[in-house]
Amino acid sequence: MSNNLLKGKRGIIFGALNDQSIAWKVAEQAHAQGATFTLTNAPIAMRMGEIQKLADDCNAEIIPADATSVEDLENLISKSVEVLGGKIDFILHSIGMSPNVRKGKPYDGTNYDWYQKTMDVSAISLHKVLQTAKNLDAINEWGSVVALTYIAAQRIFPDYNDMADAKSLLESITRSFGYHYGVEKKVRINTISQSPTVTTAGSGVKGFDAFISYAEDMSPLGNASALDCANYCITMFSDLTKYVTMQNLFHDGGFSNTGVSRKVMEKFM
Ligand SMILES: NC(=O)c1ccc[n+]([C@@H]2O[C@H](COP(=O)([O-])OP(=O)(O)OC[C@H]3O[C@@H](n4cnc5c(N)ncnc54)[C@H](O)[C@@H]3O)[C@@H](O)[C@H]2O)c1
Repeated sequence: MSNNLLKGKRGIIFGALNDQSIAWKVAEQAHAQGATFTLTNAPIAMRMGEIQKLADDCNAEIIPADATSVEDLENLISKSVEVLGGKIDFILHSIGMSPNVRKGKPYDGTNYDWYQKTMDVSAISLHKVLQTAKNLDAINEWGSVVALTYIAAQRIFPDYNDMADAKSLLESITRSFGYHYGVEKKVRINTISQSPTVTTAGSGVKGFDAFISYAEDMSPLGNASALDCANYCITMFSDLTKYVTMQNLFHDGGFSNTGVSRKVMEKFM
């Protein structure tokens, strides 16, 4: 269904790896709602080749960029403005990676080089995207930037590991940069805190299957799907949410405000 909510808007979408990726669904929905955009991912992720199919379906150009490299980001953002024919209206930051999670290092036995990599890829990359875009004056007034996060930024989820710290930093950058970019250019910046979702990044977390079932039983509405997350992102990119900025928005079926559910209690009775 299209309401042309993003008609005439230009965007950059980070993080579509395969058709399970949240960013993949955002691209499909943005296309359906009339947006034009470029797609980007780390050069190494490109080699898997799946993103080309999405680009064909959405009539989008792919511009590789390692989101930790300011040089790559300058190239991505200036080329996107050129290819799309004007300044950018929306950006999706859908990036997460922790070498400690990948290599099974526990939180209290962390490898600090990897810890820094987690922060750089999963959080500081948002700062780099925003600062680069601001320096190039590449985002239109009332433009909207959304980054995806997880409730482990507020509460402990033991196996989410150093990604919890990265998400806390990501949400803090959202508030701080949201202030500066808002005052100077009326650009808004928010995070969406999504339910656990079956994707490549999600499934990398230890015990993910049990965890997704627990969240399903705890959430009054059940877990939110990747497609529903994409639809929420679209509303945040649209002009219907112009005065929402510097927020962490829970998109989790009510999980974040639930102490315990009857379904979970029944398992202990
Ligand atoms: N899946 C979940 O359960 C869940 C829940 C809440 C939030 N999130 C967040 O959603 C976002 C998207 O993750 P997903 O679940 O769709 O998984 P995904 O694995 O499909 O996406 C993660 C993306 O990050 C990209 N990436 C990694 N390093 C990069 C770099 N240096 N430069 C540019 N891109 C890089 C990957 O190539 C991949 O496309 C992440 O921020 C994730 O933490 C996921």
